[in-house]
Order: sequence, then structure tokens, then C-alpha cells
Amino acid sequence: MTTEAVKPRWVALLGGVLGSTCCGLLLYAWSVFIKPLNDEFGWTRAEIAMAFSICALVFGLTTFIAGKMSDKYGPRIVVVIGSITLAIGFVLSGFIHSKEQLYLTYGLIAGFGGGLVYLPPIATAPKWWPDRKALATGFAVVGLGLGSFIMAPLATKIITDPLLGWRYVFIYVGIAMGVMGLISAWCLSVPPAGWKPAGWTPPVFDKSDLTKLGRDYTFGEATRTGQFWLLYVAYFCGCFAGLMVIGHIAGHGRDAGLTAMQAATAVSTLAIFNAVTRILIGAIADKIGTKVSFVGIFVLQVIAMALLFPAGSSVLFLGIVAALIGWNYGAMFTLFPASCLNYYGPTSQGANYGLLFTAFGLAGFAGPLVGGLLKDATGTYYAPFLCGAAACAISVVITAIIKPPPKLS
Ligand code: 2OP
Repeated sequence: MTTEAVKPRWVALLGGVLGSTCCGLLLYAWSVFIKPLNDEFGWTRAEIAMAFSICALVFGLTTFIAGKMSDKYGPRIVVVIGSITLAIGFVLSGFIHSKEQLYLTYGLIAGFGGGLVYLPPIATAPKWWPDRKALATGFAVVGLGLGSFIMAPLATKIITDPLLGWRYVFIYVGIAMGVMGLISAWCLSVPPAGWKPAGWTPPVFDKSDLTKLGRDYTFGEATRTGQFWLLYVAYFCGCFAGLMVIGHIAGHGRDAGLTAMQAATAVSTLAIFNAVTRILIGAIADKIGTKVSFVGIFVLQVIAMALLFPAGSSVLFLGIVAALIGWNYGAMFTLFPASCLNYYGPTSQGANYGLLFTAFGLAGFAGPLVGGLLKDATGTYYAPFLCGAAACAISVVITAIIKPPPKLS
């Protein structure tokens, strides 16, 4: 753990924004590479999409290791290793000549590095903001939306420049990710024992309320509670639906008769709302509570998923539904870590949330794939989107009935 002088606490937020932006650059603009890779190598969409699926799976599973390492060695060293690995994987993707090489460089190496960069800020920033935990978590994940919003136009510009092309996107952005990741690492440290914000007094709880007294859960104790696995299923279902939409919304708009530009507008709208919700829902949840916020976003997501198919043929209708889906989807990445922290305390938050987040990796693999398979089997996106709505309905039930585990003494 770090014993250096205490930096102002907003520095931890900056670390979160920079680290999560690297991950947004890595993950959510993958679709911009589909056409150039298809043009150059003739690979099918499924073959190109497989690179994203591998990356999401490895990213999600790595967070578990990242969380444990962050709890043990502190966040900085984990983010340094992650940034360097991420940059190497991304830059090497600019030199590939086969899809197996792409799966290795982008999927495995960059996915692994990204997972190491993603988790430590989420486990660290709220420790500096015990008075605004959900808001601090929002800063630690906001870059996922920001990165995808920046990457789509930036990559398109580099790809269409006659002197550059898709390989340069990987090389330039890979180097930028490495630099941003290292600055993020510098910003991250654990507050000294007993530190609290000036002028802030921890809330005094009613002594009869056992859920709010006692000590933190260890990793083993947390994973033996039913609540942990209920959260896991709710997270998987929400990510499954959201990642299915992220993988297919542009294709759905095109199938329904929109132009490429109109379909791309829906993608950007989803990305913007996926970013802003991460900060705003944190502020909202700090006021109205995470439970109400959770049930609210999942109910809205069921409605939005059910409306997505009929919305496809109208730019405005699709834009509104995409905004709603982006909002609800992005909100999960603030609300789940905040709930994990509320339920089990800060001591093992890295490992606890790291394991919980593997649900994203599994959903990142399954959501787009099931969406594609159902679309191929039925001919339209009606069935896939209804399947996503049903998955979100499971999350509604879980978040409505779940209760915090009692604190251990
Ligand atoms: C997020 O958007 C990586 O999907 C995760 O925060």
C-alpha cells in the first residue's frame, strides 16, 4: 500500500476518468473496424465479432484478478501493468495478418490489460469519497461512454485518411491509451488508515439496525451470501440485454430502412447517454438510494427493449429508445459497484466487485451472439429484443426483492 503524501481527493476521480476512457476506447467502438477488416481480409461479420466477444470475455474475467491484486498490492501497480499490456495488445493489433493474430492481440492481450485498468479505480475512488460513494464510482466508469463517443469519429477519420488507414488507429490509439493509463495509475492511491474528508462525520446509525453495524465482509464471506449471487444474475441479465443492443442496433436500423448515417446517430445517442448516466445516476442514487434507482432503471429497460423493434424504422423513435437503453445500461456500472460496496464494505471491494463483474464478461460473450443467432433463426430482431426484455424483467424482480445482508460482528 502507498504511504505517500495525501493528494487532493479529486485526483482519484481524474484517475478513474482516464482509466475508464482507455477501456471505452478499447471496447465500445469495435464496430468501426468491421468494414475495413472485412474489406481487407474478407472475414465475415461473425469472425470479426468474435474478436470483440473474446475481448469482452477476457476483460470481464480479468477484473477478478485485478480486484484481488488491487486489494493486496494497491491500485497503482495493477493499473501500470494493465496500461502497458493494453497498449502493447492494441498497438500489435495494427500489425496483424490473420484473425487468429487479431484474437490474440486485441482479444486476449488488450482484453487482459483493459481488465487490469478497469477495476482498480472503481475499488479506489469511492474510498476517497465516503460521503459521495456512488458519484465517485460514476467518475471511475464514465470514460467507458466517453471513450466510445470519442473513438467512433476519431477512428473513422484515421481510417478514411488516404495516408493512414485502420492499422494506424490501433497504433496511435494504443500509444495514447498507454500514456493515459500511466497517468491514471499515478492518480490512484489508497487513503491512509483512518483518513476521512475534512468536515465529514460518518453517519451515526441506529444501533438496532444490524445491517449497518459491525465489520466488513471478507471475500469468502461475501461470496457465501445469497445476495451476492442474486446481484450476479441481475448484472448478467442487464449486461446481456445491453450488449446485445450495442452489438446489433445499427444493423437493426439498417434492416428497418434507415440510412447508415441515421443508424450511426442511434449508436452515438446510446453512447452519450451511456456516459452521462454514469455520473448523474451516482448523484441520484446518493440522494434516493441505490435500490429505488436499480428497480427504476430495470423497469425502464424492459419497456425500452420491448419498444426497440417497432422503433427501428423511425430515426426519432429509435433515437429516443437508444437514449433510454444507453441510460439504463450505463447506470448499472455505477449502481452495481456501489451496491457491492454498501453490502460488503470497502475492505475486499476489489475482489468482491471483481468477481461480480465477471458477469459482464459472460454477458459480453453471450449477448451479441444470442442476438445474432436468434435474428438468423427468426429473420428479424423481434425475438432477440424480446429475449433481452425478458432478461431485464428478471433483474427487476431481483432488485425489487433483494435485501442487504446483515453486517457481521
Ligand atoms: C462498462 O461499460 C466495461 O461494460 C463495462 O463499464
